Amino acid sequence: MSATPRHILVTSALPYANGSIHLGHLVEYIQTDIWVRFQKMQGHTCIYVCADDAHGTPIMLNAQKLGITPEQLIAKTDKEHRADFADFLIEFDNYHSTHSPENRELAEYIYKQLRAKDYIATRTIQRPYDESKQMFLPDRFIKGECPRCGAADQYGDGCEVCGANYTPSDLKNPVSVLSGTKPIAKDTKQFFFELGKLETVLRQWTQAGTLQSGIANKLDEWFTSGLQDWEISRDAPYWGFKIPDAPGKYFYVWLDAPIGYMASFKNLCSKKPDLNFDDYWKADSQYEVYHFIGKDIAYFHTLFWPAMLHGAGFRMPSAVFCHGFLTVNGTKMSKSRGTFIQARTYLQYLNPEYLRYYYAAKLSDGIDDLDLNLEDFTQRVNADLVGKVVNIASRCAGFINKQFDNQLINVPADSELFKQFTQAMPLIAKDYEQREFSSAIRQIMALADSANQYIDAQKPWAMIKQTEQRDNVHLVCSMGLNLFRILIGLLKPVLPGLCAQSEAFLNIAPLRWTDLAIPMGVQRINTFEPLLTRIEIEKVTAMVDASKENLAPAVTQAPTPGGEAIKPEISIDDFGKIDLRIAKIVTAGFVEGADKLLQLTVDLGEGNTRNIFAGIRSAYDPKTLEGRYTVVVANLAPRKMKFGMSEGMVLAAGPGGKDLWILSPDDGAQPGMRVK
Ligand code: MSP
Ligand code: ZN
Repeated sequence: MSATPRHILVTSALPYANGSIHLGHLVEYIQTDIWVRFQKMQGHTCIYVCADDAHGTPIMLNAQKLGITPEQLIAKTDKEHRADFADFLIEFDNYHSTHSPENRELAEYIYKQLRAKDYIATRTIQRPYDESKQMFLPDRFIKGECPRCGAADQYGDGCEVCGANYTPSDLKNPVSVLSGTKPIAKDTKQFFFELGKLETVLRQWTQAGTLQSGIANKLDEWFTSGLQDWEISRDAPYWGFKIPDAPGKYFYVWLDAPIGYMASFKNLCSKKPDLNFDDYWKADSQYEVYHFIGKDIAYFHTLFWPAMLHGAGFRMPSAVFCHGFLTVNGTKMSKSRGTFIQARTYLQYLNPEYLRYYYAAKLSDGIDDLDLNLEDFTQRVNADLVGKVVNIASRCAGFINKQFDNQLINVPADSELFKQFTQAMPLIAKDYEQREFSSAIRQIMALADSANQYIDAQKPWAMIKQTEQRDNVHLVCSMGLNLFRILIGLLKPVLPGLCAQSEAFLNIAPLRWTDLAIPMGVQRINTFEPLLTRIEIEKVTAMVDASKENLAPAVTQAPTPGGEAIKPEISIDDFGKIDLRIAKIVTAGFVEGADKLLQLTVDLGEGNTRNIFAGIRSAYDPKTLEGRYTVVVANLAPRKMKFGMSEGMVLAAGPGGKDLWILSPDDGAQPGMRVK
């Protein structure tokens, strides 16, 4: 516990506004939120800001695809992200957007400062250009054949079939996505931030205890291989801020993204008069600024960002805290395995505090990856939270409620057991402070074990049968609930919801860290209600099934009762383009090497047969399909798949796995009939 109140500004990385929050992202937001809640509980001023990262080509492309403006797209995602975070009990002091007036003003200011101090160079380089559309093409606008496996229709940055990474110039037969023509290499003038000019300052900063050792080592490598100039501009058309005095040029998204941290804070300052922007950001500020990020974006946060800040006359971050990546059941999150789980999907099945607890139990201050093993998750949450912590309250509360008129009595704060709890507090606080959450949780669970052993040894359920032992039962249960109160107080940063419920049950004011060492005294409690239920493994399985091959668009809208997002609106004309027909399944069989697909031959009437690959293997034995009628999209352009050409699509409904049903028309429908 630190005696002097600190002033701390904390950020998490700004999530891209073109996709949904998933359990991988949540490692970071939960880690940061726990740390911030801990600081607040200590009585420090700790401000937690974040924002959507709303610029860049992918957002422009996505909006185009959806037929909406980028503004509409980012507004929609903003709403979705805020709801996801709130439901995971991530409590930002402010959530803003990089597409905001504050960010524009700050980005322009920082750029002009860097330019005035001679850190910005202009150079002519070559970039791919679409002559027919008269525009430069970002990597994602170029498609071609994969140089490694030859797969057609792959983006310029990597192959989705074989996983190879490369640059657009490596593609065979490259074409512009916009026109289908072959891009040429064309000269263009761009702006560069001359990072090398700030090398000395950066080296000092990185050696001042600001970085974890793994990251500091990486930085040494970067310094040794020499700091490259950083290209900070992009040509129109682009979705971002225009560069002052440079018509047709935009700031590259990563220029204004970190400035979004400041912009969000500035926006908060305009709402809270007691907060002063300069107090936190002036060059000689004594206040603390911390960025929580994933290790994939360390380069941006440990080189570009401090360089920009220093170059423009601001303070540099006190530290950058990197975490590793989430794996699920030991491997990368996967859509086909159902382990690419979106925040919203999780919430449809499970309590957010289970995940907060599990992540806390696994997080340390390092950059190692962290595994969400779903079986271990279920066991751990059930054993620790339900079996140990909540169990203490449920074992003691009934006696106090029923036998002692809800009244607690005084417990000795100098008893060995109580002292064991209070003496552990500074060590647990140190663990939280140093982001060694797994160690904090280990210590807290050891205390919970001690409390349960105490109740086991005292056996209030047996004592209550002897009248002369009544006072003892009263004391043991009062002690049990006092220990429970300390435990939930220690867990409050991790489990704010459980803690609030418990505070209501114990009839106490919101707990601060300093309250914990003082026992409750004589007071009344409320009737005990179950605080947390066990995780049922069926719920976990259902969540994974619902996440399988979730082909919902990246930008989701309000979920339907079925849980899947509604796609963007289409016109009646669009609908009229789809030719739906009744088809008879003539043959159905497995496809070797494809565990999701069945190969169907369908008859669209008069012997007009088609070969279709349908992703319904999990739900159907092919033999049972032969002879059945179903509905197919008859005019879908043939698609070349790994296993052959697919010449249509079978319509099916359901969340996936076994729960998938092909549409079967009523009696009387005949192959070839149009579905209207
Ligand atoms: N928009 C940038 C950050 C700009 S910050 C000025 C970005 N966005 S992101 O949406 O891709 O990622 C947001 C954060 O989530 C990043 O810190 C990233 O490392 C983290 N994670 C994304 N996927 C993750 C996992 N699978 N596991 C752990 N963290 C992950 O990067
Ligand atoms: Zn490939």
